[in-house]
Amino acid sequence: MTQDQTAKLEWKDGAIPVATRFDDPYFSLDNGLDETRHVFLAGNDLPARFQPGFRIAELGFGTGLNMLATVIAWQGAGAPEGVRFTSFEAYPMAVDDIARALDAFPEARAVAEPFLAAWGQGKRVFEVHGLTVEVIEGDAREALTGWDGHADAWFLDGFSPAKNPELWGEDLLGEVARHTAPNGTFATYTAAGFVRRALDAGGFAVERSPGYGRKRHMSRGVLRPQEI
Ligand SMILES: C[S@@+](CC[C@H](N)C(=O)[O-])C[C@H]1O[C@@H](n2cnc3c(N)ncnc32)[C@H](O)[C@@H]1O
Repeated sequence: MTQDQTAKLEWKDGAIPVATRFDDPYFSLDNGLDETRHVFLAGNDLPARFQPGFRIAELGFGTGLNMLATVIAWQGAGAPEGVRFTSFEAYPMAVDDIARALDAFPEARAVAEPFLAAWGQGKRVFEVHGLTVEVIEGDAREALTGWDGHADAWFLDGFSPAKNPELWGEDLLGEVARHTAPNGTFATYTAAGFVRRALDAGGFAVERSPGYGRKRHMSRGVLRPQEI
């Protein structure tokens, strides 16, 4: 990956990273960690569904906040073995920027050290307190097509669909469905109609549910049983 793919940032209120390429913040201006728990964890019925070998995948790794919230929830669920978190990221952040962003969330920062150490060494496959993390660099539209994994739960966390439409296209969301295990689920903060229709076309039963904070709705869904 060439150097100019590294995320370029501005800082809102000195604490919240905003991607200049997309003119959008990495997480909720209200409380990013609470939003992650509401949208991505509860939206996928986690931590209740954690079991040995459970696989989470994510579009948009960003600061790793969702991953760290997952680590905390997984630890609280007794840390079942063999749980994996795979994330796709086109514009990886510099480690110093990640550390600065995580400073706003002491609970997440408290478990972040193994991640920051590995990330600073350029590692993209590493363990965080026993949970295996892999970050696949490159445009998710190509990287996901070539991925040979499946997820039990998807976190769809691109920037807003209006500003980052390439991460919400029908082809890519069809690939998300194709890389979902039987009974697998997705959750996302957006309730945009074209995103919901693309997920439905891909094979998910999509439902709208209450969003976090000022957002009225989010979307979640489960893969429909495949017809044989
Ligand atoms: C809202 S942020 C994700 C926040 C992240 N989940 C966290 O916990 O901090 C969206 C992410 O999607 C990434 N992204 C945007 N377009 C992409 C693409 N085409 N392929 C892969 N990642 C992309 C951005 O670089 C950014 O890191």
